[in-house]
Amino acid sequence: MTIAIHESALIRHFNTRKEVLRAWEERIGARFSPFRGFKMPDSRLYIEDSDFLDSIVDLIITNERHVFIRGPVGSGKSTLMLLALRDLPTLADRRGNKFVTGYVGMTGLYEKQMAAAIADSLRVKYRRSWESSQIIDAVAKESLRRYVEEKSRTALFIEDVADNQEAAFHKLRYLADLPTEEMVDTYKGALDEPIVTLVMSGTMLYWNAMLSFLPQIADRTEPLDVPPLNDAKAREFIGRRIAYAQNKIDTFNPEDFDVFPFTDESVKVINAAAKGNPRDIRMLARGCQQVAAENFRAKGDPSVTGEIATLVSEAYATILREVQ
Ligand SMILES: Nc1ncnc2c1ncn2[C@@H]1O[C@H](COP(=O)(O)OP(=O)(O)OP(=O)(O)O)[C@@H](O)[C@H]1O
Ligand SMILES: [Mg+2]
Repeated sequence: MTIAIHESALIRHFNTRKEVLRAWEERIGARFSPFRGFKMPDSRLYIEDSDFLDSIVDLIITNERHVFIRGPVGSGKSTLMLLALRDLPTLADRRGNKFVTGYVGMTGLYEKQMAAAIADSLRVKYRRSWESSQIIDAVAKESLRRYVEEKSRTALFIEDVADNQEAAFHKLRYLADLPTEEMVDTYKGALDEPIVTLVMSGTMLYWNAMLSFLPQIADRTEPLDVPPLNDAKAREFIGRRIAYAQNKIDTFNPEDFDVFPFTDESVKVINAAAKGNPRDIRMLARGCQQVAAENFRAKGDPSVTGEIATLVSEAYATILREVQ
């Protein structure tokens, strides 16, 4: 009986909270919270840093090094991978090679799962009954065939690479080292460059782990640090999300847009607290929405002021430190 009473009190609490938020959203013409997390974020929400994206793509194209997109949790590594994956198939390197791309987004993989995920992502056929080395061998052969016959190099994207079982790494290393000496002998002269480029992502911690456990790959890999969003980009991040929630994203003009009910001051405060990390900007903006909504109910003003942003940033400081 007591439990039922508590439950209903809890439900009432959440319902009130939801109504308060809903009223604020309605006031700004939003259909849902601009700062909710999307499982599959819409690419119209992405802020592009073309210089950084170019530096990733250029590295892949020049084929001198593998790439490690390095950054804290939530800094935008996966987003950058998606943007690079979007661009690569339309490009060619200086020798006229095109690109075949594969993307492994799952982590925690064992050797065989990794081999299968790689083969699937590159659309290479294999049998379920095969061992991982046979699967990887099929991937290597097909990558070689694509290079020699179709003038296509392979770019293999692996998310949070160190979050996989150690044995899975050796599969990657084998691909990173292609062509094998045997292949080079067979194709005399035709194979004088790597045919598979690895594009990996991970935190600094994982990069350091790779340096000590896989120096053979790390030595030939360029770490690229994801740049934090500057204030203008943070403002666009918030502006796009608001426009999206208002169903106005298709007419969003990055040269001229509003962040109402956020003030420019609040955006600066949020971005400073988030250190330009998009995931943290989103969390802080959501916190600001909560406070602004309470304020709206009490006083009728939906604004997110610098003062609110400061309050929320201070409250979140501990949390952000802990999840970092
Ligand atoms: N350039 C960007 N423009 C807009 N939103 C972005 C951008 N980069 C990241 N985000 C958003 O920030 C959040 C975190 O981004 P993402 O998942 O790419 O980071 P990550 O570094 O891969 O994080 P994790 O370490 O958790 O895998 C997502 O909600 C994503 O949509
Ligand atoms: Mg990610």
